Amino acid sequence: MDVELRGITKRFGSVVANDGVNLTIRGGEVLGLLGENGAGKSTMMNILSGLYSPDEGEILIDGKPVVFQGPGDGIEAGIGMVHQHFMLVPVFTVAENVVLGVEPTGRLGYLDLKRARAQVDEINQLYGLHVPADTLIEDLPVGIQQRVEILKVLFRQADVLILDEPTAVLTPQEVEEFFGIVRSLKEAGKAIVFITHKLHEILEVSDRVSVMRQGRIVGEGDPKTLTEADLAEMMVGRPVSFTVDKTVAEPGRPMLEVSDLVVLRDNDEIAVDHLNMVVKSGEVVGIAGVQGNGQSALVEAITGLARAASGKIVFDGKDITHFSVRQRHSEGMAHIPEDRHKSGMVSSFTIAENMVLNSYYEKPYSKGMAIDWPTVHKTAAKYCVDFDVRTPSVFLPAGNLSGGNQQKMVVARELERQTKLVIASQPTRGLDVGSIEYIHSRLIEARDEGDGVLIVSSELDEIMGLSDRILVMFDGRIVAEFDNTGGKADRNAIGLAMAGATEGAAA
Ligand SMILES: Nc1ncnc2c1ncn2[C@@H]1O[C@H](COP(=O)(O)OP(=O)(O)OP(=O)(O)O)[C@@H](O)[C@H]1O
Ligand SMILES: [Mg+2]
Repeated sequence: MDVELRGITKRFGSVVANDGVNLTIRGGEVLGLLGENGAGKSTMMNILSGLYSPDEGEILIDGKPVVFQGPGDGIEAGIGMVHQHFMLVPVFTVAENVVLGVEPTGRLGYLDLKRARAQVDEINQLYGLHVPADTLIEDLPVGIQQRVEILKVLFRQADVLILDEPTAVLTPQEVEEFFGIVRSLKEAGKAIVFITHKLHEILEVSDRVSVMRQGRIVGEGDPKTLTEADLAEMMVGRPVSFTVDKTVAEPGRPMLEVSDLVVLRDNDEIAVDHLNMVVKSGEVVGIAGVQGNGQSALVEAITGLARAASGKIVFDGKDITHFSVRQRHSEGMAHIPEDRHKSGMVSSFTIAENMVLNSYYEKPYSKGMAIDWPTVHKTAAKYCVDFDVRTPSVFLPAGNLSGGNQQKMVVARELERQTKLVIASQPTRGLDVGSIEYIHSRLIEARDEGDGVLIVSSELDEIMGLSDRILVMFDGRIVAEFDNTGGKADRNAIGLAMAGATEGAAA
């Protein structure tokens, strides 16, 4: 099945999200879709899947124009979309989620789960998905949940699959498995649109690449002949540096001292196991590790989102083990959370309100009992300029921002304030290469102003590029430490430590 978008324009108020876009999608092909944050990728795909209707232009399927009134019409025509934020019901099984809304019914109209399960198994087999039909969604890792979303779309017999940043939340191992699935879908003749900000992924899996900027397609090409540098330049309109520019660190006094820290998970299992670590003023410490080895719990305990079961956390000489989130913030701790929707922002609040979400009660925003709104607005507007948060106004709900611009908003709020310690979890998740370059430079700037900086990232490249010292976390403990002055840490040794090999550098 071939699909053509012709002259698609979509406006949101004064924002032209898509500006006369032409795009062709072919069966048996993976189209990589690349573009800076806010370029209009998700909007265009929401139009293609029937969720939004375009202001101008048309969609043609095998040469015939179609009009979609909603996502139901899109899927009816064979176009299915997997959104970046999953839409599964956690307490339902895989099979129940897959059939939701299109349940096969037996005689008398009862839900025929047996038939549903058989169909799920069939699709599983066909594309090598390996998803257990009877497991509850909440018991599955993120990577498998994503496959359930794909299953759901295949169950509805989609011939065109739109995948909006599917790899953003996957571990490197899961990404490889995911690519295997994409290839088998392609072999079966499906058309795939693959959105990602990771240039090497575009080069690895797509047959064609289209690049968007400011609502338009600004380039197309063959991934076989293009380089990452070509793609980056097409995307942001200037050459992009992939290496972090920094001088040798000059560590000072200890800013964060974690001793013998134990943090438990909800089910009382040990997430952080008698962990010790120090971050000094003027240095960037990176925590490398495969997701799920206690990094999240460690960050939550340091920032006050989770309780320490035992042990001690000292911040610039002060014991903060039992401080609230707000107290830690007041002491000068910045936190870029890994999940911006859960703990970083309120979508229905304006961008301005989000920019002062954790400091509206402090100077200069608070005057007596009231909030000084003109100051809030002026500051928020400045933050948006500095961090290139693309919006026509700070008075709009933050939820209207594109995914990457939401992330930039959260990072701006945390880094613009005067702080002593920055705790950054997946700070560049979902960001385009130009924004990553800027945020990395701001983290180094914080270091050079004397902050202690702790980075947790599942991107080893990011850890290697930013950190002066690298700690490897495995099974709730720091199992190895590497000096990374001049980027000299041994990547292989880090990889081994991440996999649980204990020899090598001592902890
Ligand atoms: N529902 C909406 N209401 C108002 N404006 C919107 C809405 N959805 C998107 N926009 C605006 O349209 C533009 C394009 O956004 P879109 O989400 O398509 O970008 P994107 O290319 O997917 O970016 P990212 O890489 O950050 O996900 C942005 O300026 C965004 O603020
Ligand atoms: Mg998007």
